Amino acid sequence: MKKGKIGIFDSGYGGLTVMRSIVDVLPEYDYLYFGDNARAPYGNRSFDTVYHYTLECVNWLFDEGCDLVILACNTASAKALRQIQQVDLPKRNDHKRVLGVIRPTTESIGEYSESGVVGVLGTAGTVASESYPKEIAKFYPSVLVEQEACPMWVYLVEHNQMVGEGADYFVKQHVDRILTRNPKIDTLLLACTHYPLLMETIKKFVPSSIRLVTQGGIVAEKLQDYLVRHSEIESGLIRGGKREFVTTDDASTFDLQASLFFGESLLARHIEIGAH
Ligand code: DGL
Repeated sequence: MKKGKIGIFDSGYGGLTVMRSIVDVLPEYDYLYFGDNARAPYGNRSFDTVYHYTLECVNWLFDEGCDLVILACNTASAKALRQIQQVDLPKRNDHKRVLGVIRPTTESIGEYSESGVVGVLGTAGTVASESYPKEIAKFYPSVLVEQEACPMWVYLVEHNQMVGEGADYFVKQHVDRILTRNPKIDTLLLACTHYPLLMETIKKFVPSSIRLVTQGGIVAEKLQDYLVRHSEIESGLIRGGKREFVTTDDASTFDLQASLFFGESLLARHIEIGAH
């Protein structure tokens, strides 16, 4: 049987923060990163749109030889993953797999909190889907989850405004809102792939007694564990250490911005998909 790559999907650049952690822990595999930059951001789009866009990109990754695809995007994981796993994959009748970032995070988030009150910061779509409260309740029924949608944060990052007056204003606004709503919050989860880039500003407004949790490391660790438990999948992966990047928007623009998220320079290629 032909061996496959690991596909990593995001609406744009954010998934590169997750990919960074994954390749640090699992450098030996071949990776293909897909940024749907031409249609990003997904955060404010409807369920149907996010599902159709995500499915299209996942199918493209499958066609390009990916056997395992990670939806390194909270919005896609919240709005598209379940349907893809339950409806689309069974129709294929092959060994392809798709995983998201919400499950690995919710499996461990309860371990970070002593007060039992966790704050979740995400896009409007992720928050509206209620995926985090629902999933956390399965693993930690006594944990109370407060959510806050931070619609401007992705734009701040995409426009390189991670520090400065604008960032201070919008970061403080949402941090204050969630912490005022429940002062018992002792753990804040950055449930969006872009938010780690705002860490410097977030730290200015979050008391040091509150734990800030990012997802990349958690997702990488859980993927490593998943591959140990699923040797039938692991044995079908190419161990060439190759990393490829594609974007639905302009490749040179992607390269410039992407190095910020990935922490090293890279060369992407442009691909066409669907109707933008
Ligand atoms: N990658 C998305 C997420 O983690 C943020 C960007 C977007 O809204 O498309 O939710």
